[in-house]
Amino acid sequence: MIIENKIKNVKKSISYDKRNNKKISLVPTMGSIHKGHIFLIEEAIKKSDVVWVSIFINPSQFDDLNDYKNYPRTLNQDINIIHSLSKNIRIFSPKINEMYSEGVSYEKFDFGKIVKVMEGKHRPNHFNGVATIVTKLFDIFKPDYTFFGQKDFQQVLIIKNIIEKKFKETKLITCKTVREANGLAISSRNRLLDHNDYVNSKIIYEMLVFAKDSFNKLKINEIKEHVSNKINSVPNFELVYLDFRNSNSLEKIISSKENQNLHIFICVKVNGIRLIDNIDAK
Ligand code: PAF
Repeated sequence: MIIENKIKNVKKSISYDKRNNKKISLVPTMGSIHKGHIFLIEEAIKKSDVVWVSIFINPSQFDDLNDYKNYPRTLNQDINIIHSLSKNIRIFSPKINEMYSEGVSYEKFDFGKIVKVMEGKHRPNHFNGVATIVTKLFDIFKPDYTFFGQKDFQQVLIIKNIIEKKFKETKLITCKTVREANGLAISSRNRLLDHNDYVNSKIIYEMLVFAKDSFNKLKINEIKEHVSNKINSVPNFELVYLDFRNSNSLEKIISSKENQNLHIFICVKVNGIRLIDNIDAK
């Protein structure tokens, strides 16, 4: 199994594979590999000849230093999990100064309105950090395919935008959200939940489904009030937002008459841990 931490070695390997007409997939991750990542990697294996998984906890996308410090770091375990899927998968696990040779910083991107709401509004510059690292990774790998999870829906829109502007040869494959048995969308942050919070977290997906099912029956404000009361009554849980938006523009939908391309988004803080999820409600 190949584990690389130097950009120049990856580039050599990529240009060798490209010369041999191999199709290359890149699955970008911040490690703490879980069932959601495994799904992406398995899809990548089906699609391409060479699969690279990058593992890099990108400091420039964290607006909160504690969040960065507490982010789970499980490199050896990650390597073993990936290894168990296929020994042919290649891992790129660079150190910070390999990716940021001139110090950690983010580029300022113009994504328009889609970054002014939800995660973009609550986490200033988060998407500049994501776009900075993803652009660096795409520049290194020039992948034929790249795989992202639908759970981070707003991130997917940003990646689409980057690809349209700069990496037209790359095809973005968006994969379904993988869920725990209780409905909780799988995320590396779930590991930070204690047992009770984890058990109670089933309410997040339940409330998304409730919002979807109630859309044509109740007013949006009534749905929001119900969801907020339910979630805020669970110990340690705080609703950050429940938003009804157009799935392309992320414009707010304010009445059930305009239900085209409806997508519903939720963010809940559980004991300070930020959990997001979304549901297609077309
Ligand atoms: O979704 C993630 O894990 C990260 O935002 C990504 C895309 C790997 C960039 O650091």
